[in-house]
Amino acid sequence: MAFQMLARSKLVLTVISALSACIQASPVASSPWTTWDQTPSAKSAEFIVIGGGTAGLTIAARLIQANFTVLVLEAGGFPDSYGLPYDSPALTGDLVSTPLDWNFSSLAIPGLNDRVLKQHRGHALGGTSSINGLTYGRGSASVYNNWEALGNPGWGWDDIEEYFERTWKFPAPTNTSAYRTYDASLYTSAAGQGILGYTNYNPPSISAFVENLPSIGIPIATDLNSGDNIGGKHEVSTLNPATQTRVSSYIAFWDLLSASPNFEAVTFAVVEKILFQTPSASSTPVAYGVEYTVTASDGTTSTQTAYADKEVILSAGTLQTPQVLMLSGIGPRATLKSLDIPVVYENEWVGKNLRDATSFSMVVKVADEASTNKFQQSMSEQQAAEMAKTSDPTSDTNPLNTDDGNTGPAFSFAKLNASDLEAVGASYLLANQSDQAHYEIILWTSLYPLPKNLPTLDNYYDFSNLAEESYVSLASYMLVPTTGGNVSINSKDASANPLINLPFYEADCDMNIQVLVLKRLRTLIAQPSFAQYTVGPANGELVPGPSVQSDEDIINFIRETTVSTDHQSGTARMSPLDDEGVVSPTLEVYGVQGLRVVDASIMPVFADQHPSAAVYMIAEKAAQMIADEYGHTIQL
Ligand SMILES: Cc1cc2nc3c(=O)[nH]c(=O)nc-3n(C[C@H](O)[C@H](O)[C@H](O)COP(=O)(O)OP(=O)(O)OC[C@H]3O[C@@H](n4cnc5c(N)ncnc54)[C@H](O)[C@@H]3O)c2cc1C
Ligand SMILES: *[C@@H]1O[C@H](CO)[C@@H](O)[C@H](O)[C@H]1NC(C)=O
Ligand SMILES: *[C@@H]1O[C@H](CO)[C@@H](O)[C@H](O)[C@H]1NC(C)=O
Ligand SMILES: *[C@@H]1O[C@H](CO)[C@@H](O)[C@H](O)[C@H]1NC(C)=O
Ligand SMILES: *[C@@H]1O[C@H](CO)[C@@H](O)[C@H](O)[C@H]1NC(C)=O
Ligand SMILES: *[C@@H]1O[C@H](CO)[C@@H](O)[C@H](O)[C@H]1NC(C)=O
Ligand SMILES: *[C@@H]1O[C@H](CO)[C@@H](O)[C@H](O)[C@H]1NC(C)=O
Repeated sequence: MAFQMLARSKLVLTVISALSACIQASPVASSPWTTWDQTPSAKSAEFIVIGGGTAGLTIAARLIQANFTVLVLEAGGFPDSYGLPYDSPALTGDLVSTPLDWNFSSLAIPGLNDRVLKQHRGHALGGTSSINGLTYGRGSASVYNNWEALGNPGWGWDDIEEYFERTWKFPAPTNTSAYRTYDASLYTSAAGQGILGYTNYNPPSISAFVENLPSIGIPIATDLNSGDNIGGKHEVSTLNPATQTRVSSYIAFWDLLSASPNFEAVTFAVVEKILFQTPSASSTPVAYGVEYTVTASDGTTSTQTAYADKEVILSAGTLQTPQVLMLSGIGPRATLKSLDIPVVYENEWVGKNLRDATSFSMVVKVADEASTNKFQQSMSEQQAAEMAKTSDPTSDTNPLNTDDGNTGPAFSFAKLNASDLEAVGASYLLANQSDQAHYEIILWTSLYPLPKNLPTLDNYYDFSNLAEESYVSLASYMLVPTTGGNVSINSKDASANPLINLPFYEADCDMNIQVLVLKRLRTLIAQPSFAQYTVGPANGELVPGPSVQSDEDIINFIRETTVSTDHQSGTARMSPLDDEGVVSPTLEVYGVQGLRVVDASIMPVFADQHPSAAVYMIAEKAAQMIADEYGHTIQL
């Protein structure tokens, strides 16, 4: 692992110098109508990608394979330059609230007794895929068929399935026990630079969890990536099984990108705004470039302009894509006016429709062999990083080889039937969200969330002996949030924390689903083959604990302990313009030309999974649409 990191940093240096040479040697031709005063030293490319994150590096790689020139402007640095164990899956929990994270906060959330939640986002090449929990899942076909039915032709399951596959190879697992089953026919891409795999180390609580899911009506699944996303199993990870290390968009695509003379990336480059020109008074504004601020290693900053000969692709993620749009003059009139931003195109829907799964956890005390908690708590980040460098990736007894710091490998996705939906007051979901998962349960073989991230957990149990006790956590993710939140701005600084309004539990039915799930979790942990690992009364339940029984007490517990899952989506919604749309089915921003959004913010309906698989899919499809439009071929 140490060798890999060194090799990557060396590569970076050579790439950057080769690139500046290349850009000077072969400047791209300007479009015939351009009239701006182009600074000779300014960078230019056919496509400028704002944000070298999950979607950003994926689309950049495919555009490079389609023989376009591409410039990526990324606000963070190289992920391996922060001295953090960013590619060890067991240690993902150590990456949040560090310099690898934008470390944003939400506004006070009324449905959570006015608590403020952290909002984590990757701040590096690879974006949030450099810090996320590695879970990989495509979701239910019906979700995407719904996208299409909302006025987005080409986005139904049958059309997009190939783009889910395109990014990934899935080497046949050598050990399919402990529910590490899979269906090889769903992973046929020969082109995939990304690698999927299973973790080697699995405490026995994982199998006990999956085995008992049928007791609460959840079937055991062979694979969750066929478009049927109902059931439980050991979840697939964006993980290289041979090295048991993270696969991010950076790890998957950097070699391809850096080998191309047509590619350039600038790190620590924050895009302040997209530049538009209007060739004649009656015509549509055209995006021709961006203004960005680069911070040098000595801390000095300079503001520069880069020119896009064909298009600007905005891939800054769900929280910052609407921020960049508003700073560029596209958004709600009142917001633009309050900051004196000239209006390029007024659209009230920029920043709206923010969706995120809400999550609370039950914490259960268990025997040591069922948990990785002590391991997680007993070492510092530095010790963990050292251990990651020297650990044996093939061992199935090494706790580093588990996808556990942030997520656990046992997942289940569950549908509520008609009588459940009626009981929770959500029968409206039967209209077009009946054939998908409504909630998800994850078994973490550690304490989640940590009390340092959620002090209210200490109201339920004294967690001062973290390194001496063993826990598992059963987290419920509510996947069908009724109300949309919103992202806005109150500063012209593109690095400022956007105003994030999370609408958690504004609708009663959202809360009712969580109450129902908590009761099901109690049934599950009481099953004998799970209970054999629990310690103490009430099947080891510490949080919320057996004294929390009435619906009123359960609701209060959920309000006090819910966290964001950082699965934000929807703030630049793909929809018809008269139906809350910000981008068209070709991902072009309404009201202007030469600008597309390609990231999680375009999702018109929340996927019933963790979002990164869909984000890669969106980038793959966008690249294909662009290549087709310009008559180029992607050499996969
Ligand atoms: C802690 C955590 C755990 C998660 N776990 C999982 C998981 O296990 N499985 C899963 O599927 N999903 C998970 N997710 C969610 C998933 O990773 C994200 O939905 C996905 O990576 C988002 O991709 P994106 O391309 O939309 O944005 P990002 O990957 O966030 O990319 C946006 C990029 O734009 C850059 N940027 C922003 N503003 C500017 C600007 N003005 N100028 C230049 N650059 C800018 C950012 O630095 C970033 O690199 C997790 C998220 C978090 C935070
Ligand atoms: C790639 O683009 C360059 C410049 O436009 C062109 O000269 C070359 O023929 C293209 N190569 C292929 C394989 O299309
Ligand atoms: C992240 O934000 C929290 C406050 O929400 C702060 O305590 C912490 O220091 C921040 N982390 C970094 C690296 O700035
Ligand atoms: C889903 O159902 C609602 C209510 O019946 C309806 O307004 C909406 O258009 C439907 N959406 C789709 C995609 O069919
Ligand atoms: C396969 O994985 C299981 C569960 O993690 C483990 O107990 C077993 O030893 C592994 N078998 C081999 C051959 O590695
Ligand atoms: C709905 O699901 C619940 C929980 O699994 C079950 O108890 C109930 O019998 C089901 N109802 C019907 C009508 O299938
Ligand atoms: C943004 O969300 C908050 C919280 O849900 C809500 O009070 C507010 O009205 C919303 N703002 C807009 C402009 O929709």
